[in-house]
Amino acid sequence: MTNIAPTHIGLIGAGHIGGAVARGLVKLGHRVTISNSRGPESLADLVAELGPNATAGTPAEAAEAGEFVVVSVPFKAYRDVPVAPLAGKIVIDTNNYYWERDGHFAELDAGETTVSGVLQAHLPESRVAKGFNHITAQSILTDGTPAGTPGRRALATASDFDDAAALVTALYDDFGYDTVVVGPLADSWRVERDRPAYVSVQNREELVANLALAERVLAA
Ligand SMILES: NC(=O)c1ccc[n+]([C@@H]2O[C@H](COP(=O)([O-])OP(=O)(O)OC[C@H]3O[C@@H](n4cnc5c(N)ncnc54)[C@H](OP(=O)(O)O)[C@@H]3O)[C@@H](O)[C@H]2O)c1
Repeated sequence: MTNIAPTHIGLIGAGHIGGAVARGLVKLGHRVTISNSRGPESLADLVAELGPNATAGTPAEAAEAGEFVVVSVPFKAYRDVPVAPLAGKIVIDTNNYYWERDGHFAELDAGETTVSGVLQAHLPESRVAKGFNHITAQSILTDGTPAGTPGRRALATASDFDDAAALVTALYDDFGYDTVVVGPLADSWRVERDRPAYVSVQNREELVANLALAERVLAA
């Protein structure tokens, strides 16, 4: 019995993280529409692996199809995430900012906004929640354990919208993880790259402690 009843979820980005999340979603009984930058035909192998509950589409089609949508692209591509079809929807943002890959974004370097805050500003009619950003793609489908397991791994979310944080919490539990809600997106820097909570294997108490240790602006 899952927290989230079988539904249809869109994925924008179907690489390491998008692919792992899609595999987990299908395993949980959901339908998925996956998309990338190169077009649906380039996703034929992944769709075949995922089975009949998976289809490939364009990012706009994935956004349209999803009851909610997971965005998992290199951060620099966030402006390509379609705005109109995501209006009114919860969007789970797995993205991280790697200036080595993404180029420099001055407002992020200066600690004036957050990665997911940037996506929220791009999607003003959507409800963005951070999710799956501080666990490696390889671990998503292997580190989960049933609720109540001693030392169960915990993951963080953050959102300006309670229902979006609640959805990620329910989804994390379905994937086998406890949740710590960091707060609004303005606080989500605490779980961004290079902070103590980032990609650490930690239970709920350890995650809370690591979030508290985070420093706002990192040394260059
Ligand atoms: N890898 C990890 O363990 C990990 C863990 C946590 C968070 N993250 C973060 O999650 C995000 C995705 O990481 P990843 O490792 O999954 O990257 P990845 O393996 O490189 O996959 C990126 C995906 O995004 C698609 N994409 C790129 N530009 C796009 C665009 N303009 N429109 C639509 N789709 C586009 C790519 O499609 P094409 O291949 O067709 O270009 C690909 O499917 C990044 O922000 C990363 O920092 C990664």
